[in-house]
Amino acid sequence: MATVNAGILGTGHAYPTGILTNADLEKLVETTDEWITSRTGIKQRRKAAPEEYTSLFAVRAARQAIERARIDPSEIDVLICATVTPDQILPSTGCLIQAELGANKAAAFDLAAACSGFLYGLTLVNSMIRTGQCRYALVIGAEVLTKYVDYTDRSTCVIFGDGAGAAVLGAVEEGRGILSARIRSDGRFAEQLYAPGGGTRMGSTTETLASGQHFFKMKGNELFKVAVRSMTDISREVLAEAGKAADDIDLFIPHQANQRITDAVASKLGVDEARIYSNISQHGNTSSASIPIALDECVEAGRVKDGDLVVLTSFGGGVTWGGVVLRW
Ligand code: COA
Repeated sequence: MATVNAGILGTGHAYPTGILTNADLEKLVETTDEWITSRTGIKQRRKAAPEEYTSLFAVRAARQAIERARIDPSEIDVLICATVTPDQILPSTGCLIQAELGANKAAAFDLAAACSGFLYGLTLVNSMIRTGQCRYALVIGAEVLTKYVDYTDRSTCVIFGDGAGAAVLGAVEEGRGILSARIRSDGRFAEQLYAPGGGTRMGSTTETLASGQHFFKMKGNELFKVAVRSMTDISREVLAEAGKAADDIDLFIPHQANQRITDAVASKLGVDEARIYSNISQHGNTSSASIPIALDECVEAGRVKDGDLVVLTSFGGGVTWGGVVLRW
């Protein structure tokens, strides 16, 4: 069977209307707009209301992606919801989205790879489309991280925001779409970003809830170095695999973790500012949603053009990381 390339046929994104600014955070913890801006680049992040949940934003983003791909939800064979903040433990958020969309022929599941979840999803469906196992796939990155953030911990509460991004993938002509994709992990660094409570290892009790064991804990300083190294190395690897160099990149979209991380990776790769997309000032770190939101913003703004070479790279809790090279 002849192999085909998998490409992105449509994208979408959605986020809550609620906004949490640095000025709002100054009232909650001992921090300043100056500190947050200079250390992270973040000015505001979206925050879901108590009655809002992950699949709400995922469905909105997915509907937009499906419409732009000009397909019917019933044509989707695989639906992946990358998330670490599912609606509930059972069933998967993917299944809830599948029902809501009417994607009645799709296999649906959740993928937990933190901030690398969207690239993990792209890499999996790339193989499925190339081998003919699937015609159309929907990959969503969706998070309501703010419900797992401790608003008394200044080292994490300034970082995270909520939102969802989605992409429909299908076969495209040779030389276009995904040219190379790699995903990796190293669980030895698990405790650099984790939520210890609420699972089978430390079930929720009155005590664990009172001591905030279900909230994200982060060793930001250590993660910083691993993030820069991992995203730089894997970007070089996928570029080499695609037979491309950093000079060939038209648009570089790294996971939006911290502006200083983005700048460090871009500088090591030799990608100048004009070719980098950053929305961290407006969204903060939305984990698995960050790359698909950024990608869809680029599509809407006409920032990505037909034939552009696009490089996506991610790093997240696990730790996990990945890289994808696309010919748009
Ligand atoms: N406001 C003011 N001061 C703060 C603060 C805040 N919001 N958060 C931390 N600080 C303080 C610390 O308490 C520390 O004070 P001390 O020196 O008196 O102990 C000081 O600032 C420096 O802390 P440090 O953690 O070394 O700062 P940093 O420059 O590494 O920046 C992060 C912290 C979290 C912004 C940064 O490490 C980062 O972005 N790391 C990556 C995180 C990430 O990407 N996580 C997700 C992975 S996908």
